Amino acid sequence: MTEPTPARKRLFIRTWGCQMNVYDSGRMADVLAPLGYAPADSPDGADMVLLNTCHIREKASEKLFSELGRLRAMKADKERDGGRMILAVAGCVAQAEGAEITARAPYVDLVLGPQTYHRLPEMVARAHRAAGAVIETDFPVDQKFDSLPDEAAPQGVTAFLTIQEGCDKFCSFCVVPYTRGAEFSRAPAAVIAEARRLVAQGAREITVLGQNVNAYHGEAPGGAVWGLARLLREMAEIPGLARLRYTTSHPRDMGADLIAAHRDLPSLMPFLHLPVQSGSDRMLRAMNRGHTADDFLRVVDQLREARPDLALSSDFIAGHPGESEDDHAATLRLIERVGFAQAYSFKYSPRPGTPAASADLQVDEAVKDRRLQEIQALLRAQQDGFNRACVGRAMDILVTGPGRHPGQFAARSPWLQPLHGMGAFAAGSLLCARVTEAHPNSLSVQVEGNDLAGPELSTEPRQEKAAA
Ligand code: 5AD
Ligand code: SF4
Repeated sequence: MTEPTPARKRLFIRTWGCQMNVYDSGRMADVLAPLGYAPADSPDGADMVLLNTCHIREKASEKLFSELGRLRAMKADKERDGGRMILAVAGCVAQAEGAEITARAPYVDLVLGPQTYHRLPEMVARAHRAAGAVIETDFPVDQKFDSLPDEAAPQGVTAFLTIQEGCDKFCSFCVVPYTRGAEFSRAPAAVIAEARRLVAQGAREITVLGQNVNAYHGEAPGGAVWGLARLLREMAEIPGLARLRYTTSHPRDMGADLIAAHRDLPSLMPFLHLPVQSGSDRMLRAMNRGHTADDFLRVVDQLREARPDLALSSDFIAGHPGESEDDHAATLRLIERVGFAQAYSFKYSPRPGTPAASADLQVDEAVKDRRLQEIQALLRAQQDGFNRACVGRAMDILVTGPGRHPGQFAARSPWLQPLHGMGAFAAGSLLCARVTEAHPNSLSVQVEGNDLAGPELSTEPRQEKAAA
């Protein structure tokens, strides 16, 4: 006799924000799978709709409420047909504004903060019974990781693995310490086990994630505390795991051991996202970043000494309260001095409850706009320069799947550049390729050889569909 399988229910998840949220959405789908929920690609008629929200920049809650307005009608339609649509709001907006959500949108069934996802099945069951909304935004984070199922859905050739959550740094502008709570690191053994599982499921590249990933301090059996460098060294030994990355780091936690890992571990990719936010010491102090521009530049120099082909990415904020033209000029100077392969830049947006939001000297919108444009123009030029400099170069590439056009494959460079080329190569192949052309957001490559670390080259031409 076989176990009765639960009826298939349709689960639609909409994710806003960072890679952590993408990861969390995947895990929420995993914990709901045993209840019979399978992913749907539209909310229309779904049995459950989960909105995984991000609070980091402006208008998050307005976006959420307008989306909820649309879903309310779909929920009513479903009920008219005798069905039930569970509406759930997860993520940082849920954490920060749970009470407001249930007050303004009483038809929402579940509101859950980032630390309670493992309790989702129980909450869904309770929502089926309860008339009002179930709110769950307060639960210790270690229990979350311990209770998530081992059998996560395969993520493919490039996978994410959350090793750390939360932040104790309290940068003036940032909501993360309030929404994600205090820093928490998973135990190294649990991380290594999950990494091995991902590799067994086909991952060749793993990016370990955390809001403050290089503050990682996982407790190993016997009480020893592992930093990120130690964890990466251990992960580098996992057979079949060809590439390692980590994000997001804080300059203050770039210790000598982590810099040395960039020198010693060939599988640690030569690309690092290291947010600096500003090039002005005055602003860095106002932002409570705990380092100066020179400290950052020193770390960059040490990293480049350890790994000469290392390329950098960063985050910048234009128009933090109190920012003068001189401060802005210092940011442009820092960008010039470092030379970024790519970077993100944002106009400062006040997040309620953070110190910067109530600070005097808010910068005029038009000034913020202009400064952001100047930062972005410079970063764009640097990114184009970096991509153009790759033309003619040979590099190791990781095939991630078929490309957009017939006969094409998509791949990723060591510097996280999206690549495409012609040929029938299986996802997961590690190849040597030469860059033939730089485009605004990708590079064309020509394969020159199989480095034998990946699956065998396929000799069969891939089935090609006629272009539409
Ligand atoms: N305004 C603008 N940008 C912000 N970021 C975080 N909070 C704010 C804010 N209030 C940016 C920072 C951070 C990135 C994830 O988002 O640059 O590194
Ligand atoms: Fe936010 Fe990063 Fe600062 Fe933490 S270190 S408060 S996550 S910007």
